[in-house]
Amino acid sequence: MNNGAIIVTGASRGIGADIARELAEAGYNLALVARSADALQSLAEELNGDSVVKAWPGDIADFETAERIIKEVHDEFGSIFGLVNNAGVTQDGLFMRMSPENWKKPIDINLNGTFYFTRAVAPIMMRQREGRIINISSVIGVTGNAGQANYAASKAGIIALTKSVAKELGGRGVTANAIAPGFIATDMTEDLPEKVRTEMLNQIPLKRFGEGRDVAGVVKFLLSKEASYITAQTLVVDGGMIA
Ligand SMILES: NC(=O)c1ccc[n+]([C@@H]2O[C@H](COP(=O)([O-])OP(=O)(O)OC[C@H]3O[C@@H](n4cnc5c(N)ncnc54)[C@H](O)[C@@H]3O)[C@@H](O)[C@H]2O)c1
Repeated sequence: MNNGAIIVTGASRGIGADIARELAEAGYNLALVARSADALQSLAEELNGDSVVKAWPGDIADFETAERIIKEVHDEFGSIFGLVNNAGVTQDGLFMRMSPENWKKPIDINLNGTFYFTRAVAPIMMRQREGRIINISSVIGVTGNAGQANYAASKAGIIALTKSVAKELGGRGVTANAIAPGFIATDMTEDLPEKVRTEMLNQIPLKRFGEGRDVAGVVKFLLSKEASYITAQTLVVDGGMIA
């Protein structure tokens, strides 16, 4: 296992918190990023033990914040081995009623935030001649979805960004991969009407919704030595839903 720190954005709850738990159990030193300082701090305290886990509250949709956090994490831990761009939001609405403001929000946070953190960490990983960038996309970024044009575009953009970064940074030993989760039971999916949930369940061959840990296990794999020859890929973790 590599001793460099792993940065996990959107780690205060949901899939990000499960990724943090999985990686702390595996012994990685972690830097947790999210907007809600209190939730982040209490998770960092809970996980801090054999591995060092620290909280860096901040808004990922801001390049200066990304640069500051990456610099502070690097100063603190000495090296950064992994970046997991997980923070994300939805702002659903039918396309014909979508205002420019509603269009912008998922783009600003999901796509631009992923760019800002990746852009800020890339020089460090290239100097180290090793690093793993893991971007959390979505099956919606592969298939598109009625009512989610903005979210779908942000998540498709993440897949294209990932492939491009993989091609530019591969020569320096840095890999970049995306994970496209299907329906994972978290706060983000809790508000969906029962009818929609039942319809979705019917489309999943494994006949259950995913859990944060289903995604977290794949993140752990992509950080492992065994995954060192995998780059520019999108791993779909959806119980077979879009196959
Ligand atoms: N839940 C699903 O079914 C599902 C499916 C596919 C993809 N995803 C993706 O997985 C990721 C995590 O989703 P989740 O279900 O755990 O969501 P969630 O709403 O439970 O958690 C989102 C996390 O992102 C953080 N965040 C949001 N905006 C931020 C910002 N501007 N700056 C810093 N942090 C910010 C929140 O604080 C929180 O920690 C997202 O990128 C989401 O698009 C989720």
